Amino acid sequence: MTIAPVQRTAPPASTAWTDAKLILALEEVVEGELNRHLKVAKEWMPHEYVPWSQGRDFDGVLGGEAWAPEQSKVTPLARISLVVNLLTEDNLPSYHHEIATMFGREGAWGTWVHRWTAEEGRHGIAIRDYLLATRAVDPVELERARMAHMSEGFESDNAHSMLHSVAYVAFQELATRIAHRNTGHHSGDPLCDQLLAKIANDENLHMVFYRNLLKAALEIAPDEAMNAITEVVTNFRMPGHGMPGFERSAAQIAIGGVYNLRIHHDDVLQPVLRHLKVLETTGLGGSGQQAQEQLGAFLDGLDAQATKFDERQAALLARRAAAAAAKA
Ligand SMILES: [Fe+2]
Ligand SMILES: [Fe+2]
Repeated sequence: MTIAPVQRTAPPASTAWTDAKLILALEEVVEGELNRHLKVAKEWMPHEYVPWSQGRDFDGVLGGEAWAPEQSKVTPLARISLVVNLLTEDNLPSYHHEIATMFGREGAWGTWVHRWTAEEGRHGIAIRDYLLATRAVDPVELERARMAHMSEGFESDNAHSMLHSVAYVAFQELATRIAHRNTGHHSGDPLCDQLLAKIANDENLHMVFYRNLLKAALEIAPDEAMNAITEVVTNFRMPGHGMPGFERSAAQIAIGGVYNLRIHHDDVLQPVLRHLKVLETTGLGGSGQQAQEQLGAFLDGLDAQATKFDERQAALLARRAAAAAAKA
């Protein structure tokens, strides 16, 4: 893809970074990352992953068979998790609004914003088609939850800052990748696992794009980027946090091992932080060093909390297994 060269002007050293200056300074990196992304992102067809032969008419307008829980072949945990993942994907119009407002619609940034939106759109389509064709979840409940969730919209916690926004999406795309992948592994249906692995691969490429952008930000504005990373990591919330029943679903998803503190620490935060050498970076100013220390202390605390969670989870699962054995 060819994009018109952007006139870049480096800000004078005495001038503090603003979002507008950072967006301009990162434009060339965005163009390079966009071109790399377009080379590695292989076209794929969501319809090929949906077992349409399992589908049939529902009750209502077409007079087919109403949905019933016993029709679902996926595990109860996957039913909860698939709905959370789909509703999260469904809120794409709001995410598009947030990132188009922050990054703009022009030049390489704009091309990325639209391309990313198109790729994300495929995820909701594919998961919904799979759920309806296989009767994995209650379609009426799903539609009502989608209406409720999208009617609330999504407001980014990081709309005040370009660096916070980039830091957030770097972690969030990896969190989404892991949530899809683990949902597939726990689904009990190889076709579901195959579809979610494909989607997880897209999310991984999104993470790589934003992570590389964050790397460039750490180089050009180290103190500002370090502060943004620390604030984002210490206040991280999943994008679907506003959906109906999120807390309850999140608790079950945590116990079931799809996404919990241990996974968040080990498989989401640490890989990005390690890759960027965030905790080892030197040459920071006073505020950057302070943020780096704060981040290190936070991660130690999170690790300890995750260990406590692991112990509670193991005890709960052992009790459940004992209860199931006593019944049998
Ligand atoms: Fe997605
Ligand atoms: Fe994504």
